[in-house]
Amino acid sequence: MKHVVVTGASSGIGAALVAEFVRVGARVTLVARREAEMQAIAHAAGGQTQIFVSDLSRIDTSLDWMLPAEERFGPIDVLIHNAGVQLVEPAEEHDPEALQAMLRLNLLVPLHITRAVLPKMLARNEGTIVDIASVAGLAPTPGMWGYNASKAGFGAASESLRGELRKTGVHVVTVYPGPVDTPMARAGYAAYPENPALQILPEGIPSELARRIREAVDLRRDRVIYPRFYAVLRYFPTVARFFLDRMTPRPHSRKGR
Ligand SMILES: NC(=O)c1ccc[n+]([C@@H]2O[C@H](COP(=O)([O-])OP(=O)(O)OC[C@H]3O[C@@H](n4cnc5c(N)ncnc54)[C@H](OP(=O)(O)O)[C@@H]3O)[C@@H](O)[C@H]2O)c1
Repeated sequence: MKHVVVTGASSGIGAALVAEFVRVGARVTLVARREAEMQAIAHAAGGQTQIFVSDLSRIDTSLDWMLPAEERFGPIDVLIHNAGVQLVEPAEEHDPEALQAMLRLNLLVPLHITRAVLPKMLARNEGTIVDIASVAGLAPTPGMWGYNASKAGFGAASESLRGELRKTGVHVVTVYPGPVDTPMARAGYAAYPENPALQILPEGIPSELARRIREAVDLRRDRVIYPRFYAVLRYFPTVARFFLDRMTPRPHSRKGR
């Protein structure tokens, strides 16, 4: 039975990943800050789960859950870096501490955790690391200055690690979600003025993204872009840049919200 770890398991895409991997018989470790939410998600999923409360924007304690998790469920087979936050506000309004915390959570801590897990996966010559980046890393959206930096960095690290590990049994799946209906996405829309263009863009649902990620793990696919429409950003980045720069409104000032 596979041991799957999902960070950011208390909401949105993380909650859907827990349900999906429990459904196919995995033992799932949930990691995030909100315990009650994780308990409800684990209870609804059924199956074998365990919960660890951890603030993953802190590098010093970010590995504390790992040993106890492996003691109970065995070595990690699938590590899913899903936890993330998003700041949507004018660049000059980014609070320095919030910016650093976001870069730690979205970029530095996932690399730190991968660095800790990788030697054990390589020793067993098996395992999968799933990195949830964003289409914002492929086509950075004006108004998400620091977030774009974190996700472009994370996506680049993920793509290069897969190449580096190609001749080993360890696989890396890079995930580029477009808009997916979660609390994060809803808060993101609210940060921009009304924009009719936003209303025609396709939006995905967490359960379908989770299914595609599980399938990519099983079939050792390189990447998941969902909704599929957003693959256009990967193939035509210059065209995407042209339209994004001209059509994305400047986000509301935090002071005015
Ligand atoms: N939804 C989208 O449209 C979209 C698009 C592209 C990429 N993504 C990416 O998909 C991932 C999941 O996003 P979502 O939409 O499901 O967002 P969400 O519903 O807001 O969930 C975010 C998760 O991250 C966890 N998290 C936040 N800060 C944390 C911290 N300091 N320590 C540990 N966990 C923390 C939250 O748990 P706690 O608050 O309990 O700690 C929560 O479980 C993120 O990496 C996001 O960037 C989402």
